[in-house]
Amino acid sequence: MLNRRDFFRTASCVVGGSLLADRAALLAAGPMITRAVPKTGEMLPMVGLGSSATFASMARTADAQALREVLKTLVDHGGRVFDTAPGYGASEQVAGDIANELGLRDKIFWATKVNAAGREGLSGAKADPAKARAQIEESFKKFRLSKIDLLQVHDVVDVATHLPIVKELKQAGRVRYIGITSTRENQYAELIGYMKNEPLDFVGVDYAVDNREVEKEIFPLAQERKIGILNYVPFGRTRLFARVKGQAVPAWASEFDAATWAQFFLKFAISHPAVTVVTPATSNPKNMLDNLGGGMGRLPNADHRKRMVALIDGLPGA
Ligand SMILES: NC(=O)c1ccc[n+]([C@@H]2O[C@H](COP(=O)([O-])OP(=O)(O)OC[C@H]3O[C@@H](n4cnc5c(N)ncnc54)[C@H](OP(=O)(O)O)[C@@H]3O)[C@@H](O)[C@H]2O)c1
Repeated sequence: MLNRRDFFRTASCVVGGSLLADRAALLAAGPMITRAVPKTGEMLPMVGLGSSATFASMARTADAQALREVLKTLVDHGGRVFDTAPGYGASEQVAGDIANELGLRDKIFWATKVNAAGREGLSGAKADPAKARAQIEESFKKFRLSKIDLLQVHDVVDVATHLPIVKELKQAGRVRYIGITSTRENQYAELIGYMKNEPLDFVGVDYAVDNREVEKEIFPLAQERKIGILNYVPFGRTRLFARVKGQAVPAWASEFDAATWAQFFLKFAISHPAVTVVTPATSNPKNMLDNLGGGMGRLPNADHRKRMVALIDGLPGA
């Protein structure tokens, strides 16, 4: 059995090596770090999986083998939270099919969204309530679930129409948690208004070592109002990988067990006390395994976090 330090040494050696070796090293690293959902105390593993971007592109293809492996890897290594949306093409359907086929359905924390206005991110878009209800019923069918764990209004679109439906479903016991998402700074003021006035369990927002705007108002308010944070876009899509291209992970990252850049970025995200779960998207089982390592071992302390910000802020491409 490897201890933690040995694991992270091994993990650094096998980057680029076989998935089997990665898996063995990860298994030896012990359990995933968990954090409580603020309103209920339910413990969730801090690294999950998103399903836009490459996951959604792969879901559009006929061959879902890689996604099968991605979801299996998530669950096999203690992950649970899967973030999706009707707006992510075939992601809901394909993930639902795979989870049912592999018997993973009840091990996953299903987080999806509603946006029946079809104009994500555009304020003023109006949703038809009947279409919103139909869209949510489709999500239940695709997952083959009678209860969805988290249902969020996507991108703050027509909250006046969507949120009452989402609240009604929670009241009826068909949805466990409710929330609203936004990854656009020009929507934060509106999101903050809902955080102050609505009984939200979660918000889903963008946060990364080079994108820290939410630390100012959204994170403190979430902590005060006991609202969980789903941390989206922890790599800035692919921006952060581009910024560190050609650079080695600093030696001091071993002090918080980050062997790869993905783990460095994920550990930055989850070491903020307001963050409940981070959901990086991937279509690659090897990257899924790498990301799960971001939820294991030690986390950066306040000094490490300052150093991480200074390092990334000092790179070109801000
Ligand atoms: N408004 C909203 O509600 C909203 C908005 C944005 C995002 N989200 C949610 O948050 C999730 C995450 O956001 P995102 O997908 O935009 O951005 P992201 O997770 O920051 O970026 C994903 C990208 O990173 C790559 N990647 C993943 N793991 C990697 C690793 N270990 N090493 C190297 N590359 C890696 C992926 O490619 P590979 O497939 O090749 O690994 C993909 O290109 C979304 O999937 C979605 O579920 C919600």
